[in-house]
Amino acid sequence: MNRFFITGGAGFIGSAFVRLLLEERPSCNVTNFDALTYAGNMDNLEGLDKTRHQLVQGDVAARDSVLAALESGTDAIINFAAESHVDRSILSADEFLRTNILGTQVLLDAARECGVRRFLQVSTDEVLGSLPEDETAYFTENSAFAPNSPYAASKAAAEHLVRAAHHTFGLDTVVTRCGNNYGPRQFPEKFLPLALSNAMNDEPIPLYGDGQNVRDWIYVMDHCRAILLALRQGHAGAVYNIGARNEHRNIEVAESLLDALGKPRSLIRFVKDRLGHDRRYAIDPSRAESELGWRPLETWESGLRKTIAWYQENSRWIERARSGAYRDYYKQQYGTEVGAA
Ligand code: NAD
Ligand code: DAU
Repeated sequence: MNRFFITGGAGFIGSAFVRLLLEERPSCNVTNFDALTYAGNMDNLEGLDKTRHQLVQGDVAARDSVLAALESGTDAIINFAAESHVDRSILSADEFLRTNILGTQVLLDAARECGVRRFLQVSTDEVLGSLPEDETAYFTENSAFAPNSPYAASKAAAEHLVRAAHHTFGLDTVVTRCGNNYGPRQFPEKFLPLALSNAMNDEPIPLYGDGQNVRDWIYVMDHCRAILLALRQGHAGAVYNIGARNEHRNIEVAESLLDALGKPRSLIRFVKDRLGHDRRYAIDPSRAESELGWRPLETWESGLRKTIAWYQENSRWIERARSGAYRDYYKQQYGTEVGAA
């Protein structure tokens, strides 16, 4: 495979994947198709080789734009494009349905029409709902779908469409389902970069509910390496759960960040809980480990160290991300201004 069509490649995980691909495949060519929504960021593409990577601004739900950008001879479509934030889907679901569901179907149709060899859907463990706080329960590839937020429901619908395209039309598809990513260039609406950037500025960290919800954290490059392996070695029609066996309660994440920065734990503020807040995510990645030979390279400690260092060294990136429309969103979501003590 040499010619890739990547959607959402100006976002957090997509841009990390583009970087990995260009490094790992010196002769590859990447079309990066991204609508550049609030979450798409040209700063994320700084320094990439322009001869092998072309950004095309476009909407995955717009059939004509997708077909115009999709070159014949494309080996694989990797679909990262999505509205990705649960809290925003609770405020309004419209864009989630358009991008995440309709957009996926448009891409599947385009893949068939243009003879693309493989379609990889980047999905999420949230399609499987919430686990009890019982350490022995894990999400496997056979767990039942039980999406609880409009975001999760839209990603579940997208997965069903991918399955249907494989079953009905024989399209070669692979689905990867991952948990909570963290690392460089994550938009600060998500908990970890929000907590980190707030703490760096001595601003409070808003913790929903009792702060005891559990997430299964993975360093973004480990997720991207798994996607690349699934693309190369995954079975047609298969689903792979990707997780680093790294569960932490939200309060522990906040405390770890504060301790690493040398900031007081009194910056933690308990705020109103998220509606329908999933209690625990925990992924069993055995299939990816045995079939793809994948293992995470980063530990929680090394991943956090790298992430904190990146945010400390890239204050301009954070300032830009926290400006403009982010301030309006923050006020609406938290009832306080960005920067308020
Ligand atoms: P992100 O919000 O940082 O980036 C999304 C990208 O998609 C942005 O560049 C945005 O401009 C683009 N986009 C949005 N709507 C579009 C449209 N209509 N047409 C074209 N491009 C559009 O998201 P992320 O955190 O990088 O997540 C990427 C993918 O991985 C998503 O599909 C998400 O569901 C999935 N995922 C994310 C996580 C996580 O922890 N962040 C975990 C598992 C799976
Ligand atoms: O599990 C994979 C999913 O992880 C991805 O599919 C989503 O795209 C991604 O956003 C993420 O979803 P979460 O809802 O788990 O991530 P978020 O960063 O929004 O929240 C992580 C946890 O922190 C969650 O329990 C809610 C809590 N939280 C979040 C925010 C934004 C807070 O306590 N305070 C906050 O301000």
